[in-house]
Amino acid sequence: MKKDLKSYFSLLLNYLRGNWRAVTLGVILGIIAEICTLISPLITRYLLDFVIIGKNYSYFRSLILLSIFVLVIFLLASLIANYVLIKVFKLISAKLKLDMFKTLQYAPISFYEKEASGGISYRLLGDTESLVDSWMGILVTIPMQLILLVSAVFMIKWNLILALFAFVILGVQSYIISRFRDPILNYVKKVRAKGQEVSGYTVGHFRRIQLVKAISTENLEQKNFFKRLQELISLEIKTFMISKFSNVLQALISNAWSLSILFYGGMLTIYGKMTIGTLMAFMMFTGILYQPIAGLTNLILSFQSVRANLMRVKEYLEIKPDVVEKNDAIDFVPKEGRIGIENVLFSYGDKIVLSNINIEFPPNSITAIVGPTGSGKTTLAKLIVRFFDPKEGRIFLDGIDIRDIKLISLRKAVKLFLSENYVFNATLYENITYGSTDVGKEKIEWALEEAAVDFLHKLPYGFNTVIGEGGINLSAGEVQRVALARALILSPKVFIFDEPTSSVDLETEDKINNAFMKLKNNSTVIIIAHRLSTARISDRVVVLENGNIKGVGTHEDLLLENDFYKRINYILLQQK
Ligand SMILES: Nc1ncnc2c1ncn2[C@@H]1O[C@H](COP(=O)(O)OP(=O)(O)OP(=O)(O)O)[C@@H](O)[C@H]1O
Ligand SMILES: [Mg+2]
Repeated sequence: MKKDLKSYFSLLLNYLRGNWRAVTLGVILGIIAEICTLISPLITRYLLDFVIIGKNYSYFRSLILLSIFVLVIFLLASLIANYVLIKVFKLISAKLKLDMFKTLQYAPISFYEKEASGGISYRLLGDTESLVDSWMGILVTIPMQLILLVSAVFMIKWNLILALFAFVILGVQSYIISRFRDPILNYVKKVRAKGQEVSGYTVGHFRRIQLVKAISTENLEQKNFFKRLQELISLEIKTFMISKFSNVLQALISNAWSLSILFYGGMLTIYGKMTIGTLMAFMMFTGILYQPIAGLTNLILSFQSVRANLMRVKEYLEIKPDVVEKNDAIDFVPKEGRIGIENVLFSYGDKIVLSNINIEFPPNSITAIVGPTGSGKTTLAKLIVRFFDPKEGRIFLDGIDIRDIKLISLRKAVKLFLSENYVFNATLYENITYGSTDVGKEKIEWALEEAAVDFLHKLPYGFNTVIGEGGINLSAGEVQRVALARALILSPKVFIFDEPTSSVDLETEDKINNAFMKLKNNSTVIIIAHRLSTARISDRVVVLENGNIKGVGTHEDLLLENDFYKRINYILLQQK
């Protein structure tokens, strides 16, 4: 608890940096507004005892004017205070979300395999918001608590017993509230976890909708969905009822409290120990006191759920990236684009997927990487752009260890095109120009031509047609050509393609292969391929099996010398 409080406030202080002036202004205006509410009971007391009962009627007018003045100040101060604070805290909320967004972008790939995307957006947008709301709640409550103090002083001065009585009830109230804290916290946590599960399930379901349709599991999925909803609802009802019960109990206590004060205070005035004005003021203070007390207990109560928010926010903010950039990493623009791999070993967890990899990808040439599925081809490609670092060994770009190069420089020079995210949900134009700025029309046309993107006329809005999820679906072969066009526009020094031609027909494949032939004039080209034709146009073929290099050479040489290569070629020919 203590530790959580500490990290709660240290995070708050962190985000308040640069906003102190606005926050101070907001709090001071808040205090002014609260002072205005305190003045009313005092005016009432004066009006009753001195002006009306004491028959000093000439003060009537000035008291009315004073009341109006106080009300106007109250209105202005509280409006401005709220505006200033909400503005600061909305900004803080955006900043916190952006920070989380950034750490998530650099989170290890393994993180995304574990975490459902619904859950990620729940934390990124929901938990941060609740946390910032609670921070704002604290700052808003500070002026109120000050008022609590001041009114307590007055009450004690007027009648000690009555004041003590009020404070004892107050203590009882807080105790009861604290008894409800743990069960409420538990249920809030459960509701959150369930909500996250439901949202993750929903996102996942619509993502696999084609699969659902294909094997007709709609009814099953409906049942699953409804079952989760029912579980969520039952938890929500329990949580709602527990907190309602606690609220009702609180209201009951505070009613009993004000009635008791009225009876006891009434008796005091009957015996002439207290003026009517003081009793009225006492009652009004009691009413005013209810706000800060409710605010305080609310804060205490909600801190339990805020604690859950805090833990979830911190967990994401503290994710350590797999790949860390060195402080002294350099900006580097390679002249050649030569990739060297030296004694590389890599494992996912304990499972070794690449070992003893020694190879060079020379500039101005095409190297094909072939091998059975699961042999480690994609993993090798990911190592070259530092999605992960090798467990052992080193990778060089033009002789410089890629860990000494700034990530942004490295990924500008070496671009990996992965088959699973060739296109995303946006217009064709945005897809083709993604990652580059100010692309001229000529360059785009050139890229479309080279990548054999010849289906524009078939699309309803041509270039502006939205493709991907929620738009027009391109065929797998068309998708590959769009990705190739993007690659051509980005024109990095080193191209790595993961199966760029696996879904195109022979004629398109020829066109694309021609594009590769031209690419190598300026760049290093690495193609992960299952196609024989790609191997044929390559200057060199690297054969991978089970994470080991089984041979390197030209297609022709390997066909003569390498039994393993002969075998996979035979299989490929059979497939054709
Ligand atoms: N993120 C991951 N976590 C754990 N294991 C992984 C991960 N990615 C891949 N693997 C495993 O590593 C091995 C190599 O995978 P990789 O994707 O590099 O193979 P590949 O040669 O590209 O295969 P394919 O031809 O099917 O694309 C496989 O056994 C795979 O199951
Ligand atoms: Mg692969």
